[in-house]
Amino acid sequence: MGVLLLHLLLVAVVARAPAAHAWGKDGHYMTCKVAESFLTEEASTAVKGLLPGWAGGDLAETCSWADDHRSEFPWSIELHFADSEGGCLFNYTIDPTMSLMLLAHFVGDIHQPLHCGRHTDRGGNDIKLNWYTTPSNLHRVWDVDVIEKARKEFYNDERSTMIKAIELNITNGWSHEEKHWEACHNHKNTCADKYAAESAKLACKAYDGVEQGSTLGNDYFFYALPVIQKRIAQGGVRLAAILNKIFSCYGRLRSS
Ligand SMILES: *[C@@H]1O[C@H](CO)[C@@H](O)[C@H](O)[C@H]1NC(C)=O
Ligand SMILES: *[C@@H]1O[C@H](CO)[C@@H](O)[C@H](O)[C@H]1NC(C)=O
Repeated sequence: MGVLLLHLLLVAVVARAPAAHAWGKDGHYMTCKVAESFLTEEASTAVKGLLPGWAGGDLAETCSWADDHRSEFPWSIELHFADSEGGCLFNYTIDPTMSLMLLAHFVGDIHQPLHCGRHTDRGGNDIKLNWYTTPSNLHRVWDVDVIEKARKEFYNDERSTMIKAIELNITNGWSHEEKHWEACHNHKNTCADKYAAESAKLACKAYDGVEQGSTLGNDYFFYALPVIQKRIAQGGVRLAAILNKIFSCYGRLRSS
């Protein structure tokens, strides 16, 4: 039953997952690490039971799997690009382990603001610019450049230190907001629409003052970093809430 629910939720999220590449490896890893720290014991055990052996019991290790294996699963490429205009292909024969890895990936993706950017420039991919002195594009800035610079400059180049800082904020500064992040007022199992709308709003602002050939530096970095850290926190908290819900239901059904 938990497995069926996993499939249904995956469909709900995937059907709303807009553009191409979202978070790079670090963004996905951090989102899933945050989620792990909010899992109930029951959900954590169930998730561990579904993970492939190579993950070493760590959900975060599998959260970029969907990007790394696009070419082996041609049908899944479509999912990364699926948007609300329909034509969304979903392969119902995939196994629960794969469902888990895809769900964890897409909940992260939908929180990357430029995932809900403008269609005309492919979510900022076509806006070529300089990130400080290095050629990049607007989408990439949000996927990896900001996170990479923050990690190096503020967190001893340690992903784990950055994750701890984000988690500390969730339990301190953002504790009053956290309940709202989880809340889903339309009574669906996920609020993929809500997450996408938030991203779209943030994306709007991300384009401000950015043009073809712009050079983005400190001003942009210090504006984007807190936005990105918060989106990772929200993605993690929400992924945990979704998994906790799935597997509490699973546990009750098994024990009854
Ligand atoms: C669906 O996924 C399964 C397992 O990965 C694969 O064997 C099958 O070919 C896929 N079906 C389609 C229509 O791509
Ligand atoms: C913590 O929260 C503050 C206030 O929202 C924000 O400026 C800062 O970037 C956050 N830090 C992390 C690591 O999330």
